[in-house]
Amino acid sequence: MPAVRTQYVCQQCGGASPKWAGQCPTCGAWNSLVETAAAPRTASRAPSAARAVAGATAIIPIGAVESAEASRVPSGLGEVDRVLGGGFVPGSIVLFGGDPGIGKSTLLLQLAARLAERGLPVLYVTGEESAAQVRGRAERVGAVVDGLQLAATTDLDIALAAIESSTPALAVVDSVQTLTSGELSGPAGSVGQVREVASRLAEAAKGGGTCVALVGHVTKEGTVAGPRTLEHLVDAVIYLEGERLGTTRLLRAAKNRFGSTDEVGVLEMRGDGLSEVADASRFFLESDETPTAGAAITIALEGTRPLAVEIQALCAPAGYGSPRRATTGVDANRVLMLIAVLARHAGLNLTGHDVYVNVAGGLRIDEPAADLAIAMALASSLRERPVRAATVLAGEVALSGRLRAAARAERRLLEASRLGFERLVTGPARGGEGQPPGLVVARDIRDAVGIALEG
Ligand code: TYD
Ligand code: MG
Repeated sequence: MPAVRTQYVCQQCGGASPKWAGQCPTCGAWNSLVETAAAPRTASRAPSAARAVAGATAIIPIGAVESAEASRVPSGLGEVDRVLGGGFVPGSIVLFGGDPGIGKSTLLLQLAARLAERGLPVLYVTGEESAAQVRGRAERVGAVVDGLQLAATTDLDIALAAIESSTPALAVVDSVQTLTSGELSGPAGSVGQVREVASRLAEAAKGGGTCVALVGHVTKEGTVAGPRTLEHLVDAVIYLEGERLGTTRLLRAAKNRFGSTDEVGVLEMRGDGLSEVADASRFFLESDETPTAGAAITIALEGTRPLAVEIQALCAPAGYGSPRRATTGVDANRVLMLIAVLARHAGLNLTGHDVYVNVAGGLRIDEPAADLAIAMALASSLRERPVRAATVLAGEVALSGRLRAAARAERRLLEASRLGFERLVTGPARGGEGQPPGLVVARDIRDAVGIALEG
């Protein structure tokens, strides 16, 4: 069969050209042309579109449209459902991205088995590993169950045929980077191939009412296409994150047509696969021992869920040259800003110190309410005095040194008390009077240092 006609489409402006070029002839962008299948898709779509318009089925009352909520398929892991928005939606395609080795195959094999155990037909297409390797992992995580079918192939057409013939409730495709379409000449993992694989699978999902869970490795920009290339082709993008050597794994939605993107799922990698943690809110606390200098606890709000998190800081006298500032889990620029605010408005000068900030447990916190805990961890390390016992901090720090209450401070306080903390230090709420007991308001950063640090 001759290779189907392809064209090179600019990823910036959408302009097409028959030949590859380093620069887009239409808009002048560099390295933006991607090989894309041209003719057959439009040819096959045109008549059906015409039919749809002619037929009465094109127009229906909104009330008669079947709700996706009713048909959601729970995944079997509550933390995954939380991020998906309640379960898999039939006819949708979900991309599970993450670094190689983080546990994507493990997670999806477990989900596949949980569904199969409930009597739903499930297909696991493996292009990355042999069927025997998948079986080996399945033994480890208890996924050798009836109703879970394997197909080992790297050929997109074979994978699609397998999905079509078995019409599974869930089809896992592991991974988008290993499947190839014979219609394109590019190698497996090239931008053109992964886009073709994802869009054909998306069509198959819609057509058959199957939910396709597509695995994609996050890769360095360049020769191999990563999940970013695919975000607009799929209904949801879920990232599995964590430090490879640690055991905590976080699930986050970068895009979700069927749910919120704020929710985070917390999982733990164990010898028998990924499992849910008993009390996620307590999970990120290092220990409940006596407070040490350089550690401050905040209650972060990840979606609707409050999580108690320890922020650690180390301020050590710097050697020669400019001092080091290194952060994990918080925004480095935010830390630089807090260092400047502490110097200017609290008299805590860190210019001669190397500064390291870390969030315990591998969590990443982006909300401004973490400011106060970061600043107090820094102050605590510099002063070598621990933060007061049974105290958590949540508030935004302004350049002026003033503080602002954390959003939904009362929800955070409630969670703090549940975990045994006695007070939440925050900033003044706008127009807010009548504080609940346990809420301690600091006016500015200097005030907060006085309240938060011992002695
Ligand atoms: P894997 O699912 O193969 O990662 P990915 O598909 O994202 O590349 O997981 C690989 C790692 O997970 C590997 O280093 C071993 C570890 N692991 C466990 O710790 N426990 C288990 O039960 C399994 C199956 C894997
Ligand atoms: Mg894998």
